[in-house]
Amino acid sequence: MARNKIALIGAGNIGGTLAHLAALKGLGDIVLFDVVEGVPQGKALDLSQCGPVEGFDAKITGSNDYADIAGADVIIVTAGVARKPGMSRDDLLGINLKVMKAVGEGIRDNAPDAFVICITNPLDAMVWALREFSGLPANKVVGMAGVLDSARFATFLAWEFGVSVKDVNAFVLGGHGDTMVPVLSYSTINGIPVKDMAKIKGVSEARLDEIVKRTRSGGGEIVALLGTGSAYYAPATSAIAMAEAYLGDQKRILPCAVNVEGKYGLDGLYVGVPVVIGANGAEQVIEISLSDEEKSNLQVSVDAVKELLDACKALDPSLA
Ligand code: APR
Repeated sequence: MARNKIALIGAGNIGGTLAHLAALKGLGDIVLFDVVEGVPQGKALDLSQCGPVEGFDAKITGSNDYADIAGADVIIVTAGVARKPGMSRDDLLGINLKVMKAVGEGIRDNAPDAFVICITNPLDAMVWALREFSGLPANKVVGMAGVLDSARFATFLAWEFGVSVKDVNAFVLGGHGDTMVPVLSYSTINGIPVKDMAKIKGVSEARLDEIVKRTRSGGGEIVALLGTGSAYYAPATSAIAMAEAYLGDQKRILPCAVNVEGKYGLDGLYVGVPVVIGANGAEQVIEISLSDEEKSNLQVSVDAVKELLDACKALDPSLA
């Protein structure tokens, strides 16, 4: 059987890390695509030379030609610009919307059967626009945000309680922005609700609130520390988990930005909700019951996403 083919659109910090992880995990052959000439080719060469040391045979190539993504099983999109200190994800909208148009058309014309994972920010708007521009079925185009946001939440909870991250199941809903909704009521430490664990460990509600706030601004914290560019290791790891769920038909329930199609009383937009990822892509949105406070927090987040979609439609009338 032929190896799977993974196409990475954008060969920057996340793209390079994705390629490294995909090769180490043996997910398939890898094409790094970028508009900048030399960069994807150089990274592909460097990564190929990991093969003899790590013992992988993946064919890793760099390209500036969309024809080279033909036949891709999975495409992960990081093309665009990343945040600089002081910028919000939303500040990237105008530039990255144009990039999504080029990328969406490139996918439509060359690899329309792929499962597409978008990482480019502002995520919920960009994945929606990418779906529109590519014309692919909605179950085959998803956004990576919830896995990352949940991983950040889980990291902070594990540190606070002094427990293994392996036992933390943290839950984040909503858009990938400052209004995201870390949901404590569905977050557990090996099945023990976080609020019960907090009592056992003497962690105050105020401290839990701080952890929720730190999760919401987790990306910005890293942007400020780096001084240039934004997070890339954890975003890449998170997208690879989604790719593995699709390629292995794992039926994992992962928080992803998906077309909600009527669930949660929402329609016509992408936002982060738990979804079953398997061989048919985003197979089923899982609708959980929420408290009134959680519902209103989700609504604030959805409203922020809707504002971004309106801004996209104003910038590109073909989306209206
Ligand atoms: N087509 C293909 N690649 C493009 C295009 C385009 N039209 N425009 C820009 N790129 C490439 C750049 O040349 C660069 O190599 O996208 C790459 C982006 O890489 P980085 O600047 O290193 O950004 P990265 O950290 O990888 O983040 C990419 O993901 O998390 C989000 O906010 C982040 O939107 C940003 C994206």
